Amino acid sequence: MTTGTSSYSLLKRLTLAFSTVAILVFALTGAFLYHALSTELQRRDDIEISGKLSQFLQLARDARSAQAVRNNPSVFHEVLLSHPGVYLAIFDRQGAVLLQHSDRSSVDLTATPVAHRPNAPYACEPPGIGPSRCVFADETLPSGDSVRVLLVRTAADRQSLLEGYRIDIWLAVAVGAALVGALGYAVARRGFSPVRSIGRQTSRIEAHNLSERLDIEGGPIELQDIAFSVNRMLDRLERAFVRLSQFSSDLAHDMRTPLANVISSSQVTLSRTRTTDEYEALIDSNIEECERLQRMIESMLFLARTDSAQQLVKFAEFDAQSELRRLASYFQGLAEEAGVQIAVEGNARISADGTLFRRAVSNLISNALDHAFAGSSVELSSFDSPEYAVVEVTNQGHAIAPEHVDRIFERFYRVDASRHGSARNAGLGLAIVKSIMELHRGKVDVASYGERTTFTLYFPRSVPV
Ligand SMILES: Nc1ncnc2c1ncn2[C@@H]1O[C@H](COP(=O)(O)OP(=O)(O)O)[C@@H](O)[C@H]1O
Ligand SMILES: [Mg+2]
Repeated sequence: MTTGTSSYSLLKRLTLAFSTVAILVFALTGAFLYHALSTELQRRDDIEISGKLSQFLQLARDARSAQAVRNNPSVFHEVLLSHPGVYLAIFDRQGAVLLQHSDRSSVDLTATPVAHRPNAPYACEPPGIGPSRCVFADETLPSGDSVRVLLVRTAADRQSLLEGYRIDIWLAVAVGAALVGALGYAVARRGFSPVRSIGRQTSRIEAHNLSERLDIEGGPIELQDIAFSVNRMLDRLERAFVRLSQFSSDLAHDMRTPLANVISSSQVTLSRTRTTDEYEALIDSNIEECERLQRMIESMLFLARTDSAQQLVKFAEFDAQSELRRLASYFQGLAEEAGVQIAVEGNARISADGTLFRRAVSNLISNALDHAFAGSSVELSSFDSPEYAVVEVTNQGHAIAPEHVDRIFERFYRVDASRHGSARNAGLGLAIVKSIMELHRGKVDVASYGERTTFTLYFPRSVPV
């Protein structure tokens, strides 16, 4: 699954780390135990020879004189029969050997180095015995003779025991590290199974099943956080995707109608010979339909641009009143046609992009004129509030039903499509108003009660640059 030279397997790394740590810990523990055992064994040897030393001193005292010791060595030998590896030598004042006990003829204790302190065991290496523990003591016998008793205990058995123990420790370290590595691998693999599961689940998600969500119920918190974020991302993608699909199907649908009108009226007209007037009427109506298509495409392009925020907003400060007056006179012709008055009042200072401002308000005025009762008046007003510069477009007409209010800002949404069936509107006007307000970081609101409908534009006072 992994590729590239710089990639690595976390699983392998963890296994390696487990094993390394295990080797370290086991080796340290082994070294400690080895040292403890070795010290303990040596201590026991020391206790053994120290005990024997006092026993031999007593035997020497019992013998009373050096001569007696030399003549009667068997009492000393007997004691040592049950202690293989322990050697004894008794010297007189001049250092001549009175007695020597050894199981080997090669052993000669006369050359054994003697430590400074009597009665304290020390490490020594007498010829023929090798590494050992030694202890000695000087004693004056009842006869007045001075003797020195030297005891030696070979370390050979202790060393061979320790050697076996060392091998065991290395074995334990090796087997332990291998075991920890294997167990660690198994545990880590199990721990990583939610990660693999996330991988599998994400690779299954495509455009047609965007509604699927990652599920790692019972997985570790960290992964649940990731899954949660991914799921939220999927929510957003899904919403955007649904909007886009809806948008394109609406678009296709809305472009079909004018095209069908053009085609069918052209076909009907061409079915027999017509007068010039009739041809003119056809061309006129075709141009109207084409203009409708053109406007729709232009609106779509506008929305697409604002969607990707490529539309740059050029903020400028201006008086709302003069702009609204200019727009009112621009719509004068349409208003007269509808038998409606346009009134302008209030004077706010607005910071906005002039072109976008005119476009937003125009869309509102055009809607207001569409829905105003004949003989009523459309009011354009503006005022300042602490946070916003506010522009309102109010008309008297049938109110928008509450169930539609939330949706009229959606693209292609029209409350009564049939009413404007052949008209210039595609249901994009308010969507554009909303986009424009978002570009200004402002907002648009609507209140529609009784026979009054008011659309309100809020332009923030302090505009982020
Ligand atoms: N002033 C208004 N009074 C009543 N209904 C309105 C008013 N303005 C907008 N609407 C409703 O909102 C819908 C969406 O408006 P809009 O986006 O401008 O689309 P269009 O004008 O193309 O129908 C309209 O179809 C209309 O039903
Ligand atoms: Mg409109």
